[in-house]
Amino acid sequence: MTTDTTGTAARDGEPRRGGPADSPFVRACRREPGPHTPVWFMRQAGRSLPEYREIRANVPMLESCRRPELVTEITLQPVRRHGVDAAILFSDIVVPVAAAGIDLDIVPGTGPVVAEPVRTAADVERINPIGRDDVSYVDESVRLLVAELGDTPLIGFAGAPFTLASYLVEGGPSRTHAKTKALMYGDPELWHALCARLAEVTLAFLRVQVDAGVSAVQLFDSWAGALSEADYRRYVLPHSAHVLAGLGAAGVPRIHFGVGTAELLGAMGEAGADVVGVDWRTPLDVATRRIGPDKAVQGNLDPAVLLAPWEVVESQVRRIVDQGRAAPGHVFNLGHGVLPETDPEVLTRVVALVHELSARPAA
Ligand code: CP3
Repeated sequence: MTTDTTGTAARDGEPRRGGPADSPFVRACRREPGPHTPVWFMRQAGRSLPEYREIRANVPMLESCRRPELVTEITLQPVRRHGVDAAILFSDIVVPVAAAGIDLDIVPGTGPVVAEPVRTAADVERINPIGRDDVSYVDESVRLLVAELGDTPLIGFAGAPFTLASYLVEGGPSRTHAKTKALMYGDPELWHALCARLAEVTLAFLRVQVDAGVSAVQLFDSWAGALSEADYRRYVLPHSAHVLAGLGAAGVPRIHFGVGTAELLGAMGEAGADVVGVDWRTPLDVATRRIGPDKAVQGNLDPAVLLAPWEVVESQVRRIVDQGRAAPGHVFNLGHGVLPETDPEVLTRVVALVHELSARPAA
């Protein structure tokens, strides 16, 4: 008996039925029929959960990402509570960048803050390649989780080169990404050198997760929507494509997501995704026409709708499940992360509702 990286136990080359590789989530990513539309929520492990706030009370964010027992517990919390169809590793997109030697911190209420922003060729040289030993806590966390999760798939993730570059060049979160764009337009050679380095760090980080047993990966290009399609294609797509292509042989579904990407959906699919994440601005049937018939979609309830009365939540969930039927595969999710003020009971009800609305009789 051997176990391949998709988590499918195989005997004599025959895939075993059941297991995460046969889960509703992985099936939907592969555009295969399943028992119901799978659902998980970006940022499902996090501040909306009282049990999360309690366990994180005295542990700084980056440190919590480096403690496998804590990562395991936090990752499992929303699976236990909501019955979601997938877990996502608890970590942050800047974790591999810190492992690559960049001095940064995650400041409560602000986000990632970089001590010395990256703006010159010498700064780019400070971003070191990483390997498994530099993020052994991630390898260990994934292995612990895969053992605990049984048939529930675990999603690994990383930040895409543009979004990571934005934090590094700006030195922290930015509304306009002005310094990032100034570097991109002003010194394309340096820009491409920076993104090429970040692509190697991201690819190495995702490979560690795949080798440790994740069933899918999501590449977050959260802020790519700040770019026009032409600039995205020229300055960003080749680097994200390098990451996604580098994972091709692993055989796990690749999800690619950003916010405000209505104009970029086709290009983000072309970057090498199996599933394109869609925010709440683009209905899923429209998104499917832009992305094409050979990719699944993920999304796209506005996270703020979860703060509205239940009747509103219910009608929006119904609309999204219906519009998702236009896609060859649909993973239900929010259009961006769960807001901290969300009532977790509402998330649990959404999971049950999506399952009920989409239940298909066994073949
Ligand atoms: O819910 C929580 O806030 C949990 C803890 C936490 C995370 N990141 C977990 C995380 C905190 C405090 C951060 C800091 C951080 N890093 C922020 C939030 C700043 C704030 O206080 O609101 C941001 C924006 C970052 C940078 C970042 N991290 C981005 C852009 C992304 C991609 C997803 C997105 O929101 O666009 C991440 C990924 C991330 N951070 C995940 C987790 C658990 C993984 C993805 C997921 O769970 O969906």
